[in-house]
Amino acid sequence: MPAAKIFISQEIPQEGLILLQQAGIAYEIWGEQERPNKAQLIRSCSEMQGLISMVTDPIDGEFLRSSRHLKILSQYGVGLNNIDLPTAATLGIPITNTPDVLTNATAELTIALMMASARNFKLAMQDLRQGKFKHWAPCDYRGKSLRGKVLGIFGLGRIGMAVARIAHDGLGMRVLYHSRSEKKFLGKAFAQAVSWRELLAQSDILSVHCDLNETSRGIFDRTAFLAMKQDAIFINTSRGAVHCADDLYLALKENKLMGAGLDVTDPEPLPKNHPAWQLSNLLILPHIGSATYEARKEMAILACKNIATALS
Ligand code: DGY
Repeated sequence: MPAAKIFISQEIPQEGLILLQQAGIAYEIWGEQERPNKAQLIRSCSEMQGLISMVTDPIDGEFLRSSRHLKILSQYGVGLNNIDLPTAATLGIPITNTPDVLTNATAELTIALMMASARNFKLAMQDLRQGKFKHWAPCDYRGKSLRGKVLGIFGLGRIGMAVARIAHDGLGMRVLYHSRSEKKFLGKAFAQAVSWRELLAQSDILSVHCDLNETSRGIFDRTAFLAMKQDAIFINTSRGAVHCADDLYLALKENKLMGAGLDVTDPEPLPKNHPAWQLSNLLILPHIGSATYEARKEMAILACKNIATALS
């Protein structure tokens, strides 16, 4: 029998490839600078038994129906919103992802965005670069201390929970959450379940950790931002489409919020001419939540293990 062969839609850390070699699985990696479009992905997978996909690949019904011969689709990442899961299930294509191994990295980045937004990093760095900072002054660049403040978590899954723990145990914050299901085991001392309205009204920092689905898409819109405290900070390290970019821009510009820290936008990247880039109270990162050497290595190992398990 010929050796199994898989397609990997973007270069991944070496540790995963070593694992594939040890399992006797051949692979081909997309080598172009530009990401493959759907037609290119379909073509690249036509002779393959498996695919390691990225969270940006368009794994929709058309792709899946054209690639129904795939024995495994292993996503390099935890979010699966780019994959048409019902169609994959109907066609019997197993889908795997890489949860847990990126939880701490993403939680740490969330805390970094919270701190950077609360302490006006963007404005301070801009001023410094533009020569506007002349001397230390008691009233300049004052931000918000996190200790004793209310952190609201929207979506208390693995990452939301890790953020809640660091904020509660390490930063002395009071944690509220709103999630699809009440996490009873948490106990009142650690994080308290509240309604959507209460979450908006009470949070000093509101951090998004839900997955992107039809219920969460665009849920942070103008109405939501106006229901938040005027000095609140909005953080999103989940998926950009959970908030409306234009509504967030307006809320920040009109000082209806103190600031925002985003690791994700919709579209990604935000167009260069979007006015949001001009705001000094909006920090945007290029989707680097899981970008630590440790997490990306473990993601590679897990994505390749998932392939090896499925093909054996
Ligand atoms: C994921 O895994 O879903 C992230 O967005 C990328 O690490």
